[in-house]
Amino acid sequence: MHRLLGSAVFYLATVAAALAQSPVQRGEYLVNSILNCGNCHTPRGPEGASKPFAGGNLFETPAFKVYTSNLTPDKETGIGNWTAEQIKAAIMKGVRPDGTVLAVMPTAYYTVLTPRDADAIVAYLRSLKPIKNKIPTPEYKVALKPELTPPPMGKISRKARRGYYLATIGHCMECHSPREKGVSLVSSQMGVGKHEFTGPWGVSVSRNITSDKEKGLGNWTDAEIKRAITQGVSRNGDKLKPPMGYSAYAKMTDKDLSDLIAYLRTVPAKQ
Ligand code: HEC
Ligand code: HEC
Repeated sequence: MHRLLGSAVFYLATVAAALAQSPVQRGEYLVNSILNCGNCHTPRGPEGASKPFAGGNLFETPAFKVYTSNLTPDKETGIGNWTAEQIKAAIMKGVRPDGTVLAVMPTAYYTVLTPRDADAIVAYLRSLKPIKNKIPTPEYKVALKPELTPPPMGKISRKARRGYYLATIGHCMECHSPREKGVSLVSSQMGVGKHEFTGPWGVSVSRNITSDKEKGLGNWTDAEIKRAITQGVSRNGDKLKPPMGYSAYAKMTDKDLSDLIAYLRTVPAKQ
């Protein structure tokens, strides 16, 4: 009886805490932890600290040469003149107000954002300090199509479904699924890794995070998975390389991390 009462009180306290959070606070939490928008949108290197979210990082493939956008509310070089609907359409539909399709943005993953969280992200971006940072014009060599299909979710528990939401808006599976000729193989090889990243850190290759006992996380403890995600330390103690944003994930609440791990346990084993 007391236990039941205790957990009911705890539950109400959690709901109250979530409601007490303003949209800007919710947006700040999401953007700087699981979403980690700054990983792409904050200038790399020492400049980043003074110019958060001011954009300018280059992404180049045979299909395009683009630079991450300035997400601050600067009216001239940022998104200060965009309406909330236009900002949400860029994030969740992958299109600019002028109709051009955005490259690189993990739009398919953002399609699952709840209306409340999408509004919170916009509220937070609008609360940022405007920074003047002119971004070079993007070049597209082929017409792009927005990707709008999020990764599949099986029949899983309520806790794991919350974790699926977090893993999806965090685009874990975008980085942790292989690509072939620029196309993600997330629908057939979700979580097997093998996606290569080149940067100042050299080359890193994402690893298998399916529930496979041999190649994946199947035999890891929750604590080991949590340490890898938040501290960038693999099961054997090896230091993990970027671009995964370990320090951003370290800002996640214990409940969110625990739900995320519950979801990873349900990802079908694949080698
Ligand atoms: C993997 C890197 C990556 C991540 C993660 C990412 N973005 Fe982007 N984003 C880009 C790139 C690159 C562009 C510019 C694409 C182009 O020019 O075609 C862009 C463009 C945008 C634009 C269009 C703005 C404009 O002026 O054109 C918005 C808005 C945006 N991103 C918001 C976000 C938000 C909010 C998040 C986090 C929820 C996020 N992005 C996460 C790479 C990323
Ligand atoms: C921007 C790409 C990127 C994103 C986003 C990303 N990862 Fe990673 N992750 C990597 C790379 C690359 C490695 C391997 C680094 C290395 O080998 O040094 C890695 C390593 C890991 C490891 C360690 C596995 C092992 O065998 O040591 C785990 C666990 C992991 N990621 C889980 C996640 C989860 C969960 C998410 C979403 C919250 C996520 N990752 C998001 C790129 C990413």
